[in-house]
Amino acid sequence: MKRRAILGMDTSCDDTGVGLIVNGKPILSKVASQEALHRSYGGVIPELASRQHLKDVPWLLREALKEAKITYPQVEAIGVTRGPGLAGSLLVGFSAAKALSCALQVPMIPVNHLEAHIFSAFTGEKKPEYPLVALIASGGHTELVYSPEIGVYELLGRTRDDAAGEAIDKVGRLLGLSYPAGQAMDNLGQKGNPRAFSFPVAQTGAYEFSYSGLKTAAKRVLEKDGKVHPPDFAASFTEAVIQPLVEKSLRGAEEKNAHSLILVGGVIRNTRLRQRLQEALQRFGKMTLLPPPPDNPFAPLLYQTRKFTVFVPPPELCTDNGLMVASAAYHYLLAGRGAKGGKVFPPDDLDVDPSLDFI
Ligand code: KG4
Ligand code: ZN
Repeated sequence: MKRRAILGMDTSCDDTGVGLIVNGKPILSKVASQEALHRSYGGVIPELASRQHLKDVPWLLREALKEAKITYPQVEAIGVTRGPGLAGSLLVGFSAAKALSCALQVPMIPVNHLEAHIFSAFTGEKKPEYPLVALIASGGHTELVYSPEIGVYELLGRTRDDAAGEAIDKVGRLLGLSYPAGQAMDNLGQKGNPRAFSFPVAQTGAYEFSYSGLKTAAKRVLEKDGKVHPPDFAASFTEAVIQPLVEKSLRGAEEKNAHSLILVGGVIRNTRLRQRLQEALQRFGKMTLLPPPPDNPFAPLLYQTRKFTVFVPPPELCTDNGLMVASAAYHYLLAGRGAKGGKVFPPDDLDVDPSLDFI
C-alpha cells in the first residue's frame, strides 16, 4: 500500500489537534477542545490539560483516520509539535508520535508550534511566496517575523509584555466573560461602537507591540464607570488591540519588500480585524479578494494588492490545530529537508522543549 499521508498532531496547550495531508492536499482537521474543562478556573490548568490530552489523543486519531479513509500503513510521516508549550501537554502528543513512528517504521518530524501557525496559511492551491512577513497573534505570542526562505526567520518585533490574545482574555474576564474571551469579545464588539471610548495605543518601536498599558486603561474605565455599555467597550478595546497588529504587519511587508504577508494565530479570527485589514489594504491601490475554492475548506483568503499578497487562514485554522503541523511537516518534506528538528527515525533521543524558539 502506497504511503501518501502526512499526519500532524498538536498538544501544545489545551486543545488536542489532529490533521491529515493526503497526496499534498489538506483533507481534515479535528480538534478536541478543552475549553469547557478549564473555563471555571479562568485559565489553563497544566495538569488537567495533559491528562485530558491522554484521553483524547487515541479516539481523535482513530476518528480522523476513519473520516479521511486513511489506514495507518498509508501514513508516510508524522509531524508533531515539539514546543513551545506546556511540558506535560507536549509530552502526550510527542510520546504518541514516537510510538506511532516506531510501530509504523516511518519518520517523525518535530515541528515548532509557532512555525506551524505560519504553515496554516500554506493550505491552499496558491502558496505564500518568499520572502514573506508573518504576524503570529495568539494567546501566548505576538510576533512579527521576516522569512527569506523556508526555515529561516528574523524577528522584526514582538510584544514587550502581554500577548494580544492574553490582553483580550484578561479584559474579557473583567467584563464577566469566561476564558478564553476572544470569540465572546468579538461577538459583543460587532454590536458596539469602536469609537465610544478612546483607548491609548502604545508608542513602541516600529515593529514592537505592548498591551499592558491598554489593559490598565481598560481596567480603570471599568472601575470608574460600573455601567459601561459592554458592546461599546468591547468594540473600542478590540479596536485598540488590532490597530497596531494590522498597521505594523502592513508596514513590515511593505518595508521588507515581501511577496506575501501572512496573518495567523487565534486573534486573526477576529471579525473586526479582518474588516480593518480590508480597509487598510485600500491604500495600496487596486486590491482583489480571491475567494477560496469551494472544494477546499482549508484554503486561506487571499488579498492581492499591487505590492504583495495577503494570506488569512479560515478561522478554524487560526486557533491551534493539527493540520497546521501536518502542513509544516509536508512543506519541509517537499523542500527536501526535515523541519528545524530534522526528519527523525528512529526517534529515540528526541525530547520536547517547552521554550523552543524558532528564530
Ligand atoms: O492560537 P491560539 O489558539 O492559541 C495559542 O497558541 O495561544 O490562540 C488563542 C487566543 C486566545 O487568547 C483567544 O481569546 C484568542 O486567540 N481568540 C480571539 C478570537 N478567537 C480566539 N481573539 C479575538 N477574536 C476572536 N474571534
Ligand atoms: Zn498556538
